Order: sequence, then structure tokens, then C-alpha cells
Amino acid sequence: MTTYNKTLGTPLSPAATRVMLLGSGELGKEVLIALQRLGVETIAVDRYENAPGQQVAHHAHTITMSDPVALRALIEREKPGLVVPEIEALATSELQALEAEGVVRVIPTARAARLTMDREGIRRLAAETLGLPTSPYVFCDSLEELQAAIDGKIGYPCIVKPVMSSSGKGQSKIDGPADVKTAWDYAMAGGRVSHGRVIVEGFIDFDYEITLLTVRSLGANGAVQTSFCAPIGHVQVKGDYVESWQPMRMDPAALASAERIAKAVTDDLGGQGLFGVELFVKGADVWFSEVSPRPHDTGMVTMITQWQNEFELHARAILGLPVDVSLKSPGASAVIYGGVDARALRFDGLADAMRVPQTEVRLFGKPESFVKRRMGVALAHDADVERARVLAKEAAGKVTPKAVD
Ligand SMILES: Nc1ncnc2c1ncn2[C@@H]1O[C@H](COP(=O)(O)OP(=O)(O)OP(=O)(O)O)[C@@H](O)[C@H]1O
Ligand SMILES: [Mg+2]
Repeated sequence: MTTYNKTLGTPLSPAATRVMLLGSGELGKEVLIALQRLGVETIAVDRYENAPGQQVAHHAHTITMSDPVALRALIEREKPGLVVPEIEALATSELQALEAEGVVRVIPTARAARLTMDREGIRRLAAETLGLPTSPYVFCDSLEELQAAIDGKIGYPCIVKPVMSSSGKGQSKIDGPADVKTAWDYAMAGGRVSHGRVIVEGFIDFDYEITLLTVRSLGANGAVQTSFCAPIGHVQVKGDYVESWQPMRMDPAALASAERIAKAVTDDLGGQGLFGVELFVKGADVWFSEVSPRPHDTGMVTMITQWQNEFELHARAILGLPVDVSLKSPGASAVIYGGVDARALRFDGLADAMRVPQTEVRLFGKPESFVKRRMGVALAHDADVERARVLAKEAAGKVTPKAVD
């Protein structure tokens, strides 16, 4: 595949370099800001009006991005040079068709967007094609198949997830036979597209889990090169990230395995950009869990820990520009949840939060709040990563969202 022209034009002119984000939440918003800083003309697309990224882009559109007709019509009308997926639930077959027709380049590739759209494509690629270590797994289409998979191969405890879901939605742990039906029903209610398929995975009793941000960018010789950010440790509650820190101190052998696995997966997915490779670690053993071919939520910590954060790295890599993945300071992030269902919010305690030394607070600007909606993040830096974790959580805890009628 030809690589992207490294020359950037001025926005809103015939010379403009135009980039379209499909999905414009808090992660897309930061990618858009990074692109804006390079004078790229940006187009933010989301399923609802005034999404965070739409508030900072040159152009905004609201469409159903899983609808192939609507997606093609918008891309053909706007004619972006690059299309950058921020979410999984897209009409990825249409993106593949558009890429094959030469209409647009998809980041990192349309094939990567399709393979990572649900858990099945990427899991089969990693485990069956690439032979990488993963949890044992079976895909099931009914409660009976689920029970048979547990009895025959997976055992207890295990984890059930809808094949199409993120942020832990519809996901639950099964400790014994009494939990199986509850877990199936929960997965059916929580899947994004109700095609009724789940993955059941053997439970990995890991010591810790990491995100390894992996960047495929162009070197001086024009060839793609792979760089790894320092590993990010994180804590998930019910499958949703609540805090992260960088660097995660790791056994050197485990880090070497993690990088080998990340390289194998990202080499296969190809293209240019940043990937978030999720891995489980126990001693020197490492299991591949999943990969986002785009910035990762746990990687928000890099807004305070790296000279070029994950969004800037993604922007540079997709434009064919060089990257620097080096660490600026150890640090941590802690999520600020909405805590209430409300049409609009006011944030109390912000000044108190910002008085916590060595911290920053980012509010995403989402118009509407849900109890478990991520509305902001607190960031902290300190030479001691454990101290940074304490500071980030302290700052996040002082921000109190209040419903506004
Ligand atoms: N097989 C497993 N064994 C042990 N823990 C697991 C397993 N699968 C998932 N988990 C836990 O649940 C978390 C979420 O799982 P996973 O990443 O598959 O879901 P997700 O919905 O894609 O989440 P996200 O979108 O936040 O990445 C993992 O980070 C891990 O903490
Ligand atoms: Mg995950």
C-alpha cells in the first residue's frame, strides 16, 4: 500500500489535508485536537449531536455510522483523505469497499477495522492464525451451547461477553452452574447489536494486566517501524477502566513477551497508527486479550506522562510523520463518572480537585450524563508512580457532578 503524503496543507483551502473521525467521544476529541495543532482540516462524525469531538472540529456530522448507505454517502460527499475509526460499531464492510475502490484510506486499514469490530475476528486471528497465547474460549449462540462449552472445555470460573460490546457491557463472571443463565441473559441484554452470540473465556488468574501502546509509523527510510510506549497498568471494575498508571513495573521476560505479542498482532493488522494491545500477565507468562487499532482509554494517562501523548502519536503516525514514544514522568489517571442520570451537569469541587498538587482535570464536555458514563479524568504525575495514583484518585474524588434541571 502506498504511504500517505507527509506534506500537510492549510485547512479550509484547496490544499487542505482532510481527516474524518468516525466516533467523536473523549478519545476522538483528543485526536482531533492533535490534528488541529498541525493545521489539518477535521471532520467529526458521531451518532449524537454535540459529541465531544464535534465541539473542536472544523465540520461536524451526526449519522448512524453502522448504516452502510449513510456512511458511504457522507464519505463520498466530504471526500476526506483519511478516515479514522474511533469506535468499533461501524459499517466496516462498506469501509473495506470504499478502500478497495480507492475512495479513501482507512486507519490503520479497513481490514483491521473489520477484524476488531467484534471479539470473534480478532480472537480467531490472534489464537488460531498467529498462534498467540490467549485464554481458552468458545463462541456460543444459545444458552445450551454455552452450558456445553463450559462443561466440555472451559470449566469454572469463566467469563461471558457479547461478541459485540465494549467497556464491559453485558460481561459477567460465572463461578458455578447457578450463574450460567443469569450471565447469558445479561449478555443478551448488554450486547450492542443483538445477534445473540457470546464468547465464553476461561478465567485467567493474572497478577496484573497492561495496555501496551504500540505505534506503527514511518521511519526516515519510508518503511514502517514499530515503537512501544512504556507499559500501562490499569484496574478494571466490571470490565470498565477506573484507573491507569505508567510505567507498570514488569519482569523483563514478561515485557519481552508482551512486545513480541504486540508486534505479531500489529504487524498482521498493518497500516499506520497507534494500537492499544491488552495483555494479562502472571509471572513471566503473558496472554493476549484484545487490541484497539486506535488510542485506548487507559492510555489517557499519557496526557501527563509522555512528551507526545497517545493521541499525538496517532495523529503523527497516520500522517506519515515521525514519533517519539519517550516518557516525560511517571503518572496516573483516575476516571470521573457522571454518578447521576441527567440531561445536563454542573461539576462541583473543581477548584478543590485542582488544588491537589501535580494534577490536572479534563472534562470531556459530554452534554448528557449517566451514572456510569465517563465524564472526565484526573491526571497526576510524580516520580513515584504509586504516589501519582493516590493523587489522581484524590483529585477525581473531589469532582462532584450535580444534575441540573
Ligand atoms: N478471560 C479473562 N480472565 C480474567 N479476566 C478477564 C478475562 N477477560 C476479561 N477480563 C477482565 O475484564 C476486563 C474487560 O474485558 P475486555 O477487555 O475483554 O472487555 P471490553 O468490554 O472490551 O472492555 P474495554 O472496552 O474496556 O476494553 C479485562 O480488562 C479484564 O480485567
Ligand atoms: Mg478491553
